[in-house]
Amino acid sequence: MDSIVVNGGGALHGEIAIAGAKNACLTLMPATLLADEPLTLTNVPRLSDIVTMTQLLQSLGAEASSLQDGRVVAMSSHAAENPVADYEIVRKMRASNLVLGPLLARHGHAVVSMPGGCAIGARPMDLHIHGLEALGAKIELKDGYLHAKAVNGLKGAQIELRFASVGATENIMMAATLAKGTTVIKNAAREPEIIDLATCLRAMGAQIEGEASGTITIQGVDRLHGATHPVIADRIELGTYMLAPVIAGGEVELLGGRVELVAAFCEKLDEAGISVTETVNGLKVARRNDRIKAVNIKTEVFPGFPTDLQAQMMALLCTADGTSVLEETIFENRFMHAPELMRMGAQIDVQGGTATVTGVERLKGARVMATDLRASVSLILAGLAAEGETVVSRVYHLDRGYEHVVRKFSGVGAQIERVKS
Ligand code: EPU
Repeated sequence: MDSIVVNGGGALHGEIAIAGAKNACLTLMPATLLADEPLTLTNVPRLSDIVTMTQLLQSLGAEASSLQDGRVVAMSSHAAENPVADYEIVRKMRASNLVLGPLLARHGHAVVSMPGGCAIGARPMDLHIHGLEALGAKIELKDGYLHAKAVNGLKGAQIELRFASVGATENIMMAATLAKGTTVIKNAAREPEIIDLATCLRAMGAQIEGEASGTITIQGVDRLHGATHPVIADRIELGTYMLAPVIAGGEVELLGGRVELVAAFCEKLDEAGISVTETVNGLKVARRNDRIKAVNIKTEVFPGFPTDLQAQMMALLCTADGTSVLEETIFENRFMHAPELMRMGAQIDVQGGTATVTGVERLKGARVMATDLRASVSLILAGLAAEGETVVSRVYHLDRGYEHVVRKFSGVGAQIERVKS
């Protein structure tokens, strides 16, 4: 298994190009099952999760191939006859559950393995099931698989989500594009990935409105057609790399970055004493003072502070002046990076969903281990500021969500390498 070795201390300067969004791409790819004509995605990030989704679609009988060095994925579902998403693929990646709505709309039935929990939380599927049942499906759990059937086809319905779940909104939206009549999803998620999905589905002929408002209205159509769609920029990759020059010192320009993708995050950066400037090609980030100020964070659904940037922000706040309180409201177990950061000298007290971070002058390099994607990158960020060497093991988590992570950090001058361990 590979590790990443970071030697902290040097300031960072230069540019980092932001890739297409993993979480947008993982919902756009299953949308191919809604049409027989080809769907082509451009600005695709080169990640192992995208490879897994490609394999899942192929296992369902769709054609899916990676072009232009992985930057483009061309898919066609004209021969997609298999409605069964097997446990062996689904267990590798929770986002596999995003084929449930499209398969149901395509075949009138679907059998999708229950994804199970993961390190950051239990992550049930009740909201997905509730929404698809409202559209007329009967869903049963048998042998670890969700068996969904819509004997009389899917019919538009009014659905109010108890919580604005990203995945449930995506599954319901996709299924509703081919349902008879009108579907209204209330308390729908408003994340930029939802907007991107709506834009792509419209390009395929779907009738969707209101995706930015929290109430999405979908008028079902008989069929969708092919389209070519560019994946939006990855706001979480953007936020992660925005923190690099803040933690290490220096100034970095994030190419393709836009403030509206990370507005709540930028507000907190400003409060901490960090300036974010819009440029022609993206955003420039630098610290205003030597030491950043402590700030309090509460993760929330979009447009609130994203849970996927909480670990990285904690890495920053470990060396802030003062005490910061971080409240995690989206996932029940998303502080696993805290004990690892404490191995590097951070002072953190975790009580349930709240972590109190008392800033120290300097972190110290250590061997650390990560249990999920965002936790892994937070340890790299911490390593950039630490004295000496930090070795982050279990790098496969990073490969799921950060393309060319070593190349991007070293391109701006970070002392970082990937080694076989
Ligand atoms: N939830 C339920 N029931 C459901 C669905 C969700 O209780 O039926 C709960 C979850 O257990 C969780 C909360 O609602 O506590 C949020 O879940 P949501 O459905 O919104 O998240 P998701 O669709 O499973 C996506 C991203 C995550 C990101 C979250 C929140 C993808 C592939 N994944 O997950 O990304 O954290 O939204 O923004 O889009 C990551 O990239 O590191 C990552 C974990």
